[in-house]
Amino acid sequence: QKKVILDVDTGVDDALGMLLAIFSGQLDILGITTVNGNVSLDQATVNTCKILQLAGMDRHIPVIKGANKPLMRPAHFEHRVHGADGIGGALRDMPVHTQPFEGFGPDYIIEQVRKHPGEVTLVMTAPLTNLAIALMKYPELVREVREVIVMGGVVSGFGNVTPTAEYNIYVDPEAAKLVMQAGFPSLTLVGLDVTRRALLTEEHLRELGDSPLADYVWVSTADYMKRYHERNGVRACALHDPLAVGVALNRELVTTRPYYVDVETRSELCDGQTVCDFQNRLGREPNVQVCTDVDADAFLQLFTRTLRA
Ligand code: BDR
Ligand code: CA
Repeated sequence: QKKVILDVDTGVDDALGMLLAIFSGQLDILGITTVNGNVSLDQATVNTCKILQLAGMDRHIPVIKGANKPLMRPAHFEHRVHGADGIGGALRDMPVHTQPFEGFGPDYIIEQVRKHPGEVTLVMTAPLTNLAIALMKYPELVREVREVIVMGGVVSGFGNVTPTAEYNIYVDPEAAKLVMQAGFPSLTLVGLDVTRRALLTEEHLRELGDSPLADYVWVSTADYMKRYHERNGVRACALHDPLAVGVALNRELVTTRPYYVDVETRSELCDGQTVCDFQNRLGREPNVQVCTDVDADAFLQLFTRTLRA
């Protein structure tokens, strides 16, 4: 089993990514670190605990609270997309009996990577604040981590917060810049270029059958799908974060290309843009494996099969 740490700001799709990771049976989830993002740090932590309870894993996977705001900017919640509580109200009545672990998310990342050098994959599906702090505290992390998979950015199209920026990068662009410039030997960017094509439809939902887990997925995605429908005329939703987990499970699901990528942090219009040097104009070494294509059907099959079983 591949050792992973998931870093989340538990919104609707983070939760689905966690469930995919848990029920795949292929990942040794060392812990889940939470961060301010779609919702506040506290809400993201409660949501994460509830998802673990739903999956019956709350005694097995530690949840560790991380940063409660971006490095240099105010919080930017996404209640319009993820609902007031971040997971579409689906577990509103579930009491929380799971306590997060003592400690701080970035320290936990450092501690686990040092404990298992060369073995830990970090799957980041939130603003990159926790990883940036970990890097500042322990720069050797770069060499000791096995790989980093980031759901974030967009290199060939349009942003989802501003015309050019994707949410996770937009919220904490300084953190994202630090992570991209850190020199990780394996850093994969699973951006909107591919995640927008990983579309969960009602037909997929029906394939999940009848179970408390399937009920959860139906309810939590209802408003998320409605919003997508209003904008795009189709009842569906993009599985952004689950695709990053999918890449951890099976790299063959995506095609990647090495490019030099940097993050804009000082522009009135383009803050948070992931600028990809496709033509190597800057003459820099590639720092990122950018996902350029995805086998969306294979991924959706993996997703529905895993959650059905
Ligand atoms: C990303 O932003 C968040 O709202 C989602 O959870 C996902 O991580 C998509 O841009
Ligand atoms: Ca997320």
